[in-house]
Amino acid sequence: MSGLRRVGIAGLGIYVPERRLTNAELERMVDTSDDWIRQRTGISERRIARPDELTSDMGTAAARRALADAGVEASAVDLVICCTVTPDQLFPATACSIGHKLGASRAGGFDLSAACSGFVLGAQTAAHFIATGAAETVLVVGVEKLSAILDYRDRSTCVIFGDGAGAAVFTTLERSGRGEFLGGSAGMKGGTEDVLSLPAGGTRFPASHATVDAGQHFIRMQGKAVYRFAVTTFVDVVRRTLAPYGGIDRLDALVPHQVNLRIIEAAAEGLGLPMERIFVNIDRYGNTSAASVPIALFEAREAGLVKPGALTCCVAFGAGLTWGHLLFRW
Ligand code: COA
Repeated sequence: MSGLRRVGIAGLGIYVPERRLTNAELERMVDTSDDWIRQRTGISERRIARPDELTSDMGTAAARRALADAGVEASAVDLVICCTVTPDQLFPATACSIGHKLGASRAGGFDLSAACSGFVLGAQTAAHFIATGAAETVLVVGVEKLSAILDYRDRSTCVIFGDGAGAAVFTTLERSGRGEFLGGSAGMKGGTEDVLSLPAGGTRFPASHATVDAGQHFIRMQGKAVYRFAVTTFVDVVRRTLAPYGGIDRLDALVPHQVNLRIIEAAAEGLGLPMERIFVNIDRYGNTSAASVPIALFEAREAGLVKPGALTCCVAFGAGLTWGHLLFRW
Protein backbone atom coordinates (compact mmCIF):
# COMPACT_ATOMS: atom_id res chain seq x y z
CA MET A 1 0.00 0.00 0.00
CA SER A 2 2.69 2.53 -0.99
CA GLY A 3 1.66 6.16 -0.46
CA LEU A 4 -1.05 5.03 1.89
CA ARG A 5 -1.00 4.78 5.65
CA ARG A 6 -0.58 1.40 7.34
CA VAL A 7 -3.66 0.23 9.18
CA GLY A 8 -4.01 -1.78 12.39
CA ILE A 9 -6.67 -3.40 14.53
CA ALA A 10 -6.57 -1.62 17.88
CA GLY A 11 -9.19 -3.58 19.80
CA LEU A 12 -11.79 -6.33 19.77
CA GLY A 13 -14.96 -6.96 21.76
CA ILE A 14 -17.94 -9.29 21.76
CA TYR A 15 -21.38 -9.61 23.25
CA VAL A 16 -23.56 -12.73 23.25
CA PRO A 17 -27.02 -12.94 24.81
CA GLU A 18 -27.34 -14.94 28.03
CA ARG A 19 -30.06 -17.30 26.84
CA ARG A 20 -28.74 -20.61 25.46
CA LEU A 21 -30.98 -22.61 23.15
CA THR A 22 -29.76 -26.21 23.33
CA ASN A 23 -30.26 -29.03 20.85
CA ALA A 24 -32.30 -30.81 23.52
CA GLU A 25 -34.78 -27.91 23.53
CA LEU A 26 -34.95 -27.92 19.73
CA GLU A 27 -35.81 -31.63 19.89
CA ARG A 28 -38.98 -30.58 21.68
CA MET A 29 -39.79 -27.87 19.11
CA VAL A 30 -39.21 -29.62 15.76
CA ASP A 31 -38.64 -33.14 14.44
CA THR A 32 -34.87 -33.25 14.97
CA SER A 33 -32.29 -34.80 17.26
CA ASP A 34 -29.18 -33.72 19.12
CA ASP A 35 -27.27 -36.39 17.19
CA TRP A 36 -28.42 -35.16 13.78
CA ILE A 37 -27.57 -31.54 14.56
CA ARG A 38 -24.11 -32.35 15.98
CA GLN A 39 -23.20 -34.70 13.16
CA ARG A 40 -24.38 -32.48 10.30
CA THR A 41 -23.39 -29.07 11.69
CA GLY A 42 -21.21 -29.43 14.81
CA ILE A 43 -23.60 -27.21 16.79
CA SER A 44 -24.56 -27.98 20.41
CA GLU A 45 -26.21 -24.73 21.40
CA ARG A 46 -26.75 -21.18 20.19
CA ARG A 47 -27.55 -17.87 21.94
CA ILE A 48 -30.92 -16.18 21.56
CA ALA A 49 -31.53 -12.49 22.28
CA ARG A 50 -34.41 -11.36 24.50
CA PRO A 51 -37.44 -10.06 22.58
CA ASP A 52 -36.70 -6.53 23.82
CA GLU A 53 -32.97 -6.80 23.02
CA LEU A 54 -32.33 -5.04 19.73
CA THR A 55 -29.59 -5.64 17.20
CA SER A 56 -28.29 -2.16 18.10
CA ASP A 57 -28.20 -3.09 21.82
CA MET A 58 -26.03 -6.13 21.15
CA GLY A 59 -23.86 -4.17 18.71
CA THR A 60 -23.40 -1.37 21.23
CA ALA A 61 -22.36 -3.81 23.99
CA ALA A 62 -19.73 -5.43 21.73
CA ALA A 63 -18.54 -2.01 20.52
CA ARG A 64 -18.07 -0.71 24.10
CA ARG A 65 -15.82 -3.66 24.86
CA ALA A 66 -13.83 -3.20 21.65
CA LEU A 67 -13.33 0.51 22.39
CA ALA A 68 -12.18 -0.33 25.95
CA ASP A 69 -9.78 -2.95 24.55
CA ALA A 70 -8.40 -0.34 22.15
CA GLY A 71 -8.24 2.39 24.81
CA VAL A 72 -10.30 4.65 22.56
CA GLU A 73 -13.16 6.95 23.67
CA ALA A 74 -16.45 6.77 21.75
CA SER A 75 -16.13 10.49 21.09
CA ALA A 76 -12.97 9.80 19.06
CA VAL A 77 -14.70 7.47 16.56
CA ASP A 78 -14.98 8.93 13.04
CA LEU A 79 -17.11 6.24 11.46
CA VAL A 80 -19.37 3.39 12.57
CA ILE A 81 -19.96 0.56 10.07
CA CYS A 82 -22.64 -1.88 11.16
CA CYS A 83 -22.58 -5.15 9.23
CA THR A 84 -25.90 -6.94 9.55
CA VAL A 85 -28.84 -8.48 7.72
CA THR A 86 -31.06 -8.11 10.78
CA PRO A 87 -31.12 -4.33 11.36
CA ASP A 88 -33.40 -2.79 14.01
CA GLN A 89 -35.48 -1.45 11.10
CA LEU A 90 -34.99 -1.49 7.33
CA PHE A 91 -33.97 2.15 7.75
CA PRO A 92 -32.55 4.26 9.28
CA ALA A 93 -29.22 2.45 9.57
CA THR A 94 -28.59 0.52 12.79
CA ALA A 95 -25.11 2.12 12.77
CA CYS A 96 -26.81 5.42 13.66
CA SER A 97 -28.48 3.84 16.72
CA ILE A 98 -25.22 2.22 17.80
CA GLY A 99 -23.36 5.52 17.40
CA HIS A 100 -26.03 7.31 19.43
CA LYS A 101 -26.04 4.72 22.24
CA LEU A 102 -22.24 4.81 22.41
CA GLY A 103 -22.06 8.61 22.47
CA ALA A 104 -19.97 8.61 19.27
CA SER A 105 -20.95 12.23 18.87
CA ARG A 106 -18.84 13.12 15.86
CA ALA A 107 -19.00 9.86 13.92
CA GLY A 108 -20.65 9.17 10.60
CA GLY A 109 -22.19 5.79 10.03
CA PHE A 110 -23.84 3.34 7.69
CA ASP A 111 -24.95 -0.27 7.49
CA LEU A 112 -23.30 -2.82 5.24
CA SER A 113 -25.36 -5.73 3.95
CA ALA A 114 -23.37 -8.74 2.78
CA ALA A 115 -24.81 -11.44 5.06
CA CYS A 116 -22.13 -13.71 6.53
CA SER A 117 -19.40 -11.88 4.57
CA GLY A 118 -20.43 -8.56 6.16
CA PHE A 119 -17.68 -8.22 8.73
CA VAL A 120 -14.75 -9.01 6.41
CA LEU A 121 -16.08 -6.48 3.90
CA GLY A 122 -16.76 -3.91 6.63
CA ALA A 123 -13.23 -4.37 7.98
CA GLN A 124 -11.74 -3.75 4.52
CA THR A 125 -13.89 -0.64 4.11
CA ALA A 126 -12.60 0.62 7.46
CA ALA A 127 -9.02 -0.12 6.46
CA HIS A 128 -9.39 1.87 3.24
CA PHE A 129 -10.89 4.88 5.03
CA ILE A 130 -7.90 4.91 7.36
CA ALA A 131 -5.25 4.12 4.73
CA THR A 132 -6.34 7.08 2.62
CA GLY A 133 -6.52 9.47 5.58
CA ALA A 134 -10.30 9.89 5.31
CA ALA A 135 -10.68 8.67 8.91
CA GLU A 136 -8.50 8.05 11.96
CA THR A 137 -10.69 5.66 13.94
CA VAL A 138 -13.35 3.36 12.53
CA LEU A 139 -15.57 1.02 14.49
CA VAL A 140 -16.77 -2.08 12.64
CA VAL A 141 -19.60 -4.04 14.23
CA GLY A 142 -20.85 -7.43 13.02
CA VAL A 143 -24.15 -8.18 14.69
CA GLU A 144 -27.21 -10.32 14.08
CA LYS A 145 -30.52 -11.11 15.73
CA LEU A 146 -31.32 -14.01 13.40
CA SER A 147 -33.81 -15.46 15.91
CA ALA A 148 -36.14 -12.65 14.80
CA ILE A 149 -36.32 -14.02 11.24
CA LEU A 150 -36.19 -17.77 11.91
CA ASP A 151 -39.20 -20.04 11.66
CA TYR A 152 -38.91 -22.28 14.71
CA ARG A 153 -41.13 -24.80 12.91
CA ASP A 154 -38.61 -25.21 10.04
CA ARG A 155 -35.98 -27.75 11.15
CA SER A 156 -33.80 -27.11 8.10
CA THR A 157 -32.96 -23.56 9.24
CA CYS A 158 -33.80 -23.05 12.93
CA VAL A 159 -31.12 -25.43 14.20
CA ILE A 160 -28.31 -23.62 12.38
CA PHE A 161 -28.44 -19.95 13.29
CA GLY A 162 -27.91 -17.90 16.47
CA ASP A 163 -27.63 -14.32 17.77
CA GLY A 164 -24.60 -12.29 18.85
CA ALA A 165 -22.24 -9.40 18.17
CA GLY A 166 -18.55 -8.73 17.65
CA ALA A 167 -16.71 -5.47 17.04
CA ALA A 168 -13.28 -4.24 16.03
CA VAL A 169 -11.64 -0.82 16.22
CA PHE A 170 -9.41 0.15 13.29
CA THR A 171 -6.83 2.95 13.47
CA THR A 172 -3.45 3.65 11.92
CA LEU A 173 -0.85 0.96 12.69
CA GLU A 174 1.23 3.69 14.31
CA ARG A 175 -1.51 4.11 16.92
CA SER A 176 -2.73 0.53 17.27
CA GLY A 177 0.74 -1.03 17.43
CA ARG A 178 -0.83 -4.38 16.47
CA GLY A 179 -3.08 -6.16 14.03
CA GLU A 180 -1.47 -4.92 10.80
CA PHE A 181 -3.97 -5.10 7.92
CA LEU A 182 -2.29 -6.78 4.94
CA GLY A 183 -5.17 -7.10 2.49
CA GLY A 184 -8.54 -8.49 1.66
CA SER A 185 -10.92 -9.43 -1.12
CA ALA A 186 -14.58 -9.31 -2.07
CA GLY A 187 -16.46 -11.59 -4.45
CA MET A 188 -20.03 -12.18 -5.46
CA LYS A 189 -22.21 -14.37 -7.62
CA GLY A 190 -25.60 -12.84 -8.30
CA GLY A 191 -28.64 -14.58 -9.68
CA THR A 192 -28.67 -16.66 -6.51
CA GLU A 193 -31.41 -14.74 -4.70
CA ASP A 194 -33.30 -17.89 -3.82
CA VAL A 195 -30.37 -19.92 -2.49
CA LEU A 196 -30.29 -18.15 0.88
CA SER A 197 -32.58 -15.23 1.60
CA LEU A 198 -35.24 -13.43 3.55
CA PRO A 199 -37.68 -13.23 0.63
CA ALA A 200 -40.21 -10.57 1.64
CA GLY A 201 -40.25 -7.13 3.19
CA GLY A 202 -38.23 -5.42 0.45
CA THR A 203 -39.40 -4.14 -2.93
CA ARG A 204 -39.43 -7.56 -4.60
CA PHE A 205 -42.15 -8.86 -2.30
CA PRO A 206 -43.42 -5.93 -0.21
CA ALA A 207 -44.89 -6.98 3.13
CA SER A 208 -48.53 -8.03 2.86
CA HIS A 209 -50.92 -10.48 4.49
CA ALA A 210 -50.06 -12.87 1.66
CA THR A 211 -46.29 -12.71 2.34
CA VAL A 212 -46.92 -13.29 6.04
CA ASP A 213 -49.25 -16.23 5.35
CA ALA A 214 -46.66 -17.74 2.98
CA GLY A 215 -43.91 -17.50 5.63
CA GLN A 216 -41.82 -15.24 3.40
CA HIS A 217 -40.55 -13.16 6.31
CA PHE A 218 -38.45 -16.07 7.51
CA ILE A 219 -35.01 -17.24 6.30
CA ARG A 220 -35.16 -19.64 3.37
CA MET A 221 -32.15 -21.76 2.52
CA GLN A 222 -31.17 -24.40 -0.03
CA GLY A 223 -28.72 -26.15 2.29
CA LYS A 224 -26.98 -28.38 -0.24
CA ALA A 225 -26.29 -25.54 -2.71
CA VAL A 226 -24.83 -23.43 0.10
CA TYR A 227 -22.69 -26.34 1.27
CA ARG A 228 -21.04 -26.92 -2.12
CA PHE A 229 -20.44 -23.22 -2.69
CA ALA A 230 -18.97 -22.74 0.79
CA VAL A 231 -16.39 -25.55 0.62
CA THR A 232 -15.14 -24.61 -2.86
CA THR A 233 -14.93 -20.88 -2.12
CA PHE A 234 -13.27 -21.42 1.26
CA VAL A 235 -10.42 -23.46 -0.27
CA ASP A 236 -9.95 -21.19 -3.33
CA VAL A 237 -9.86 -17.93 -1.38
CA VAL A 238 -7.46 -19.12 1.32
CA ARG A 239 -5.10 -20.81 -1.16
CA ARG A 240 -4.96 -17.72 -3.41
CA THR A 241 -4.47 -15.42 -0.41
CA LEU A 242 -1.52 -17.35 0.96
CA ALA A 243 0.24 -17.98 -2.38
CA PRO A 244 2.25 -14.71 -2.32
CA TYR A 245 3.29 -15.41 1.29
CA GLY A 246 4.87 -18.76 0.55
CA GLY A 247 1.78 -20.98 0.75
CA ILE A 248 -0.56 -22.34 3.34
CA ASP A 249 2.26 -23.51 5.64
CA ARG A 250 3.00 -19.88 6.45
CA LEU A 251 -0.47 -19.31 7.90
CA ASP A 252 -0.47 -19.30 11.71
CA ALA A 253 -4.20 -18.90 12.30
CA LEU A 254 -7.29 -19.35 10.19
CA VAL A 255 -10.43 -17.81 11.66
CA PRO A 256 -13.24 -18.75 9.30
CA HIS A 257 -16.90 -17.83 9.29
CA GLN A 258 -18.47 -20.38 11.63
CA VAL A 259 -20.67 -21.80 8.93
CA ASN A 260 -20.77 -25.50 9.73
CA LEU A 261 -18.12 -27.78 11.24
CA ARG A 262 -18.33 -30.20 8.30
CA ILE A 263 -17.65 -27.36 5.84
CA ILE A 264 -14.68 -26.18 7.92
CA GLU A 265 -13.26 -29.71 8.20
CA ALA A 266 -13.71 -30.41 4.48
CA ALA A 267 -11.93 -27.14 3.64
CA ALA A 268 -9.12 -27.90 6.10
CA GLU A 269 -8.57 -31.21 4.35
CA GLY A 270 -8.67 -29.55 0.92
CA LEU A 271 -6.10 -27.00 2.06
CA GLY A 272 -3.90 -29.47 3.91
CA LEU A 273 -4.12 -27.27 7.00
CA PRO A 274 -4.19 -28.96 10.42
CA MET A 275 -7.31 -28.23 12.50
CA GLU A 276 -5.04 -26.96 15.35
CA ARG A 277 -4.46 -23.83 13.28
CA ILE A 278 -8.17 -23.26 12.64
CA PHE A 279 -10.40 -21.64 15.22
CA VAL A 280 -13.82 -23.20 15.75
CA ASN A 281 -16.54 -22.15 18.20
CA ILE A 282 -19.64 -23.07 16.19
CA ASP A 283 -20.51 -25.70 18.83
CA ARG A 284 -21.43 -22.91 21.27
CA TYR A 285 -22.93 -20.21 19.05
CA GLY A 286 -24.15 -21.79 15.80
CA ASN A 287 -23.90 -19.64 12.69
CA THR A 288 -24.26 -15.96 13.67
CA SER A 289 -23.76 -14.60 10.14
CA ALA A 290 -22.00 -11.19 10.22
CA ALA A 291 -21.20 -11.62 13.93
CA SER A 292 -19.50 -14.96 13.42
CA VAL A 293 -16.03 -13.80 12.30
CA PRO A 294 -15.54 -11.05 14.91
CA ILE A 295 -16.77 -13.31 17.75
CA ALA A 296 -14.44 -16.08 16.56
CA LEU A 297 -11.55 -13.64 16.17
CA PHE A 298 -12.00 -12.35 19.72
CA GLU A 299 -12.12 -15.88 21.13
CA ALA A 300 -9.18 -17.03 18.97
CA ARG A 301 -7.12 -14.26 20.54
CA GLU A 302 -8.31 -15.25 24.04
CA ALA A 303 -7.38 -18.87 23.26
CA GLY A 304 -3.86 -17.80 22.21
CA LEU A 305 -4.16 -18.92 18.57
CA VAL A 306 -4.12 -15.33 17.31
CA LYS A 307 -1.03 -14.15 19.17
CA PRO A 308 1.45 -11.34 18.54
CA GLY A 309 3.05 -11.80 15.14
CA ALA A 310 0.61 -14.48 13.96
CA LEU A 311 -0.23 -14.33 10.25
CA THR A 312 -4.01 -14.58 10.44
CA CYS A 313 -6.65 -15.03 7.77
CA CYS A 314 -10.39 -14.60 8.20
CA VAL A 315 -12.55 -15.98 5.41
CA ALA A 316 -16.30 -15.69 5.02
CA PHE A 317 -19.06 -16.51 2.55
CA GLY A 318 -22.79 -16.27 2.57
CA ALA A 319 -26.00 -15.07 0.97
CA GLY A 320 -25.63 -13.05 -2.20
CA LEU A 321 -23.75 -15.15 -2.85
CA THR A 322 -20.87 -13.15 -1.40
CA TRP A 323 -17.42 -13.97 -0.10
CA GLY A 324 -14.28 -12.28 1.07
CA HIS A 325 -11.21 -12.50 3.26
CA LEU A 326 -9.11 -10.43 5.57
CA LEU A 327 -5.38 -10.99 6.07
CA PHE A 328 -3.47 -9.41 8.92
CA ARG A 329 -0.53 -9.99 11.22
CA TRP A 330 -1.59 -9.74 14.86
N1 COA B 1 -33.08 -32.58 11.87
C1 COA B 1 -33.31 -33.79 11.35
N2 COA B 1 -33.41 -34.00 10.04
C2 COA B 1 -33.27 -32.93 9.22
C3 COA B 1 -33.03 -31.65 9.71
C4 COA B 1 -32.93 -31.49 11.11
N3 COA B 1 -32.69 -30.31 11.69
N4 COA B 1 -32.93 -30.80 8.68
C5 COA B 1 -33.10 -31.53 7.57
N5 COA B 1 -33.32 -32.81 7.90
C6 COA B 1 -33.56 -33.96 7.03
C7 COA B 1 -34.06 -33.58 5.66
O1 COA B 1 -35.44 -33.34 5.69
C8 COA B 1 -33.67 -34.79 4.86
O2 COA B 1 -34.63 -35.78 5.07
P1 COA B 1 -35.08 -36.73 3.85
O3 COA B 1 -33.83 -37.47 3.47
O4 COA B 1 -36.12 -37.58 4.48
O5 COA B 1 -35.59 -35.81 2.79
C9 COA B 1 -32.38 -35.27 5.51
O6 COA B 1 -32.33 -34.63 6.80
C10 COA B 1 -31.16 -34.88 4.73
O7 COA B 1 -31.30 -33.50 4.39
P2 COA B 1 -30.21 -32.75 3.57
O8 COA B 1 -30.65 -31.34 3.36
O9 COA B 1 -29.84 -33.57 2.38
O10 COA B 1 -29.03 -32.83 4.64
P3 COA B 1 -27.56 -32.32 4.48
O11 COA B 1 -26.65 -33.43 4.76
O12 COA B 1 -27.35 -31.51 3.26
O13 COA B 1 -27.47 -31.34 5.74
C11 COA B 1 -27.44 -28.99 6.17
C12 COA B 1 -28.29 -30.20 5.79
C13 COA B 1 -28.33 -27.76 6.19
C14 COA B 1 -26.86 -29.22 7.56
C15 COA B 1 -26.31 -28.85 5.13
O14 COA B 1 -26.83 -28.85 3.83
C16 COA B 1 -25.51 -27.62 5.34
O15 COA B 1 -24.78 -27.51 6.29
N6 COA B 1 -25.61 -26.65 4.40
C17 COA B 1 -24.97 -25.40 4.55
C18 COA B 1 -25.86 -24.52 5.37
C19 COA B 1 -25.18 -23.29 5.83
O16 COA B 1 -24.08 -23.36 6.32
N7 COA B 1 -25.84 -22.14 5.70
C20 COA B 1 -25.33 -20.89 6.08
C21 COA B 1 -24.44 -20.35 5.02
S1 COA B 1 -23.75 -18.85 5.48
